[in-house]
Amino acid sequence: MLHIGPHALRNPVLLAPMAGVTDVPFRAAAARLGAGLTIAEMAAGKELLEGRQRERLAGEKVGGRPFVVQLAGHDAVLMARATEVALAHGAQVIDINMGCPAKMVTGKLSGAALMRDPALARTIVEAVMAAAGGAPVTVKMRLGWDDARRNAAEIALMAADAGVAMVTVHGRTRRQFYTGRADWRAVGGVVRALRHAGHAIPVIVNGDIVDAPTARAALAQSGADGVMIGRAATGRPWLPGEIAESLAPGHGIAPLPFDRQAAELMRLHADMVAFHGEAVGVRRARKHLKAALTHWRAAGAVPVDDAARLREVFLRSESAAEVQDALSALAQGSRAAA
Ligand SMILES: Cc1cc2nc3c(=O)[nH]c(=O)nc-3n(C[C@H](O)[C@H](O)[C@H](O)COP(=O)(O)O)c2cc1C
Repeated sequence: MLHIGPHALRNPVLLAPMAGVTDVPFRAAAARLGAGLTIAEMAAGKELLEGRQRERLAGEKVGGRPFVVQLAGHDAVLMARATEVALAHGAQVIDINMGCPAKMVTGKLSGAALMRDPALARTIVEAVMAAAGGAPVTVKMRLGWDDARRNAAEIALMAADAGVAMVTVHGRTRRQFYTGRADWRAVGGVVRALRHAGHAIPVIVNGDIVDAPTARAALAQSGADGVMIGRAATGRPWLPGEIAESLAPGHGIAPLPFDRQAAELMRLHADMVAFHGEAVGVRRARKHLKAALTHWRAAGAVPVDDAARLREVFLRSESAAEVQDALSALAQGSRAAA
């Protein structure tokens, strides 16, 4: 069983944090549908302190347990204070972002840029650990900045020595952004380095895991303790739970038939509209509906003619009721050939 400090996870299949995608309603759905853990979208430590993201944290109570807040930043004092704010708003685990490749983030020396400066990374880990007052701290990173600087093992050892409770490694360098393929074997180097040094903390392998076979391959090639699923879960909050069930029967959920998937998306859509308001909720839900439709089409669950019409409603309609009607018809099977 995978543990993050005192928190025992239901299974070792985690939903990745994705800004703009894995919001509270989506994470609540993923958790209800069997994901072993969900992580809140990155919060800039500075913005949390200035109060701009506190409202978001206050709404987090339904997003799954334990409640993990991910912080990004490069100033140890600010990160420590942001940790205190997050804990005061109910966070149970603090995750430090050392993997974000976005220029807006790395340009300020946060995210993956921290891997280029191991001394600063250590200062931040230690400051967050001290501020967390015993709550588990985890780190999410990449393999390194670029091929010449693949220092994930070094950073993981530093973090483990400082006392972090879990390390997640996306098997790409920052330079790769999302190109090429995630190198699961390279994540194995981090696992071996930690074990060699006597650290038993869980290591999670991440990158390009899209189904049970790729989850098995990533685990076999890396020797990691669990997997984290990102982009493949867009539009499919049930995916981590389904993969978990395939890896260990009884620990996730059975594959959802097409009509249940449509019903789940109907609920997600309604929850997103309730959470964000209609104008924002309808727009934010589009990426999920678009992804779901792509999968349904590939699986032959929606006839081509219906898919074109649904696409129009899903991607253009500003009306929650109109989208709900289309999903309801799918859930009832009246338009589907599944
Ligand atoms: C739209 C998007 C937003 C993301 N936001 C975050 C984030 O807030 N924090 C983070 O650590 N990683 C973030 N990531 C990276 C993912 O957590 C994950 O590491 C990456 O997508 C690789 O996993 P995948 O191949 O399963 O998608 C984001 C990725 C995407 C595509």
